[in-house]
Amino acid sequence: MIIQALTAALLCLHAGETIYLDTLDLAPVEQGWKTAQARLSVDGNAISIAGKGFGHGVGTHARSEWTIDLFGAATAFDAMVGVDDEFCSGDGTVVFVVMGDGKELARTELIKKGEAARPVHAELTGVKKLTLVVEDGGDGINYDHADWGDARITMADGAKAKPRSTKPARPYPRIAMTQPTAPAITQPRITGGTPGKPFLYRVPTTGVRPMHFAAKGLPKGLALDESTGVISGSLAGDGSWDVKIAARNELGSTEAVVTIVGGANALALTPPMGWNSWNCWAGAVDDSKVRAAADWMVRSGLADHGFTYINIDDTWEAGRDEQGRILTNEKFPDMKALADYVHSKGLKLGIYSSPGPQTCAGYEGSYQHEKLDADRYAEWGIDLLKYDWCSYGNIEPKPDHAALMKPYVTMRDALRGSSRDIVYSLCQYGMGNVWEWGDEVGGNYWRTTGDINDSWASMAGIGFGQADLAPYAGPGHWNDPDMLVVGKVGWGPSLHDSRLTPDEQVTHITLWSMLASPLLIGCDLSQMDQFTLALLSNDEVLSVSQDPLGKQASRVSQEGETEVWARPLEDGSIAVALFNRGRETAQVVAMWDALGLSGRQHVRDLWNHTDQGAFERGYSLEVPRHGAVMLRVTPER
Ligand code: GLA
Repeated sequence: MIIQALTAALLCLHAGETIYLDTLDLAPVEQGWKTAQARLSVDGNAISIAGKGFGHGVGTHARSEWTIDLFGAATAFDAMVGVDDEFCSGDGTVVFVVMGDGKELARTELIKKGEAARPVHAELTGVKKLTLVVEDGGDGINYDHADWGDARITMADGAKAKPRSTKPARPYPRIAMTQPTAPAITQPRITGGTPGKPFLYRVPTTGVRPMHFAAKGLPKGLALDESTGVISGSLAGDGSWDVKIAARNELGSTEAVVTIVGGANALALTPPMGWNSWNCWAGAVDDSKVRAAADWMVRSGLADHGFTYINIDDTWEAGRDEQGRILTNEKFPDMKALADYVHSKGLKLGIYSSPGPQTCAGYEGSYQHEKLDADRYAEWGIDLLKYDWCSYGNIEPKPDHAALMKPYVTMRDALRGSSRDIVYSLCQYGMGNVWEWGDEVGGNYWRTTGDINDSWASMAGIGFGQADLAPYAGPGHWNDPDMLVVGKVGWGPSLHDSRLTPDEQVTHITLWSMLASPLLIGCDLSQMDQFTLALLSNDEVLSVSQDPLGKQASRVSQEGETEVWARPLEDGSIAVALFNRGRETAQVVAMWDALGLSGRQHVRDLWNHTDQGAFERGYSLEVPRHGAVMLRVTPER
């Protein structure tokens, strides 16, 4: 009798079909690096955990999330999980979580590389949605190559439905979508330059063209083009001028004060806004793509919202001529003509090099040719240099503080000695706490992190990781958490839509604006959809980014996975961002006392341009998973 019952139970257990997860579509898996692989690790090796191989399984990378529709037809999930043995220079730590219909069903302890695979089991009877999560173990996502070894679902006896991998629907957040047609002068409203060097400022003005511009109080040496609104010339001396600009089109007129500062290297007085070729084209960038970026910067209207720089990243360089002067390769037949073209639109041209003999992509660097290069850039008409450490690591394998600074000082002096104002962007991924000395070596902004990619783990890890850097930013010198990953990106030649969800993209632009980071668009501007354009052209959001006070935001409170960040603005109001880093919708609360405020405060929602009313003690709102709300809080007078 007992034996019969046991046999029946066993039969029952084994009666259902086993579906290995590596037979499902892996495209919907969201993860922090690369893409999920069937029967292979994330780097494409046979799955192996602490020396043990698995014939089945899925290799992924923290943080990852994967939803599978089960239609209530499964009974169990099983896997052997761990960190893959494949070579990578560090040791990953991860936690595996199994969720059913939003509830946690199983969770491992922290697992480190080299530790034996752990069994994970979850009962699935009645579960409709299975979600497999890999968390980063609390130490960031680096080296977190996570394997779901032998991962499988047992189906109920006779089940007809098959599990199906799905991409959860992510509705678009409600943000202002329309572009203004009457004239409005946007931002930045402060700009500067070195007297005696060429000056260029395209008054950022939205509204339909033709437009007529006028200026009162322009400093000596500068002139305004009345039909384009471009101010150019060369400042005659030091000073600060409040220039009254008027703009008019067939629908109306507007006026605003723009401050022009004359002084040695009075550059990047607000965080630079522009485009950089790397996150879309990488090595596939060429002259025509850069021209197209300049064309679309104007055509899309982004230039009217303050976007100015068109930056060529790595791979434009050839060798040197007999005099040691840097040459461009066949992709850039005439750099001077390209600069003239970009300038003709009132925009500025940026370029890239390395203090080492080679750039990161293996092209000619500036090592021992710094002065020649700076003069060459100036001759071409370059306005910005991104200077990327890379092979300088071979010159200085173990740099101390002075050695880290040295190559940047050399190039600073070369740039300043050139005939143009060249914004100086340091790129060395944050080594030696660059934020503490980047200003001293002349940096107008400095990368604080490694390279970003278009995943939540990367963007959020980098963005929220800036929390303690506020004291180091200010007019002329900014922290740079890397370029934007909204729109069509892909590190070229082929592109894909950003893998960030719409809410994650709102978080991205909110964070970067709150952080007073440079806003360098990394997508193909000719292929922007309406949502991407709306994200990048919201003047209420951008006016926080470009606020002349230049104070970077800090985190003011944190509860669970919700956070409130704030930054003071020039007009006495405060920009406040409510973030939800969690996987589910959450209520986020900003209390006035945590912001140093008391009494009634007016709240305006900057993303959707609506006044929310006045509130006595604080403001709270439901924020979607990975989403953000951005507010301007103004004391009631
Ligand atoms: C490094 C930088 C990137 C990009 C590439 C170019 O990785 O961090 O932003 O400039 O080099 O090779």
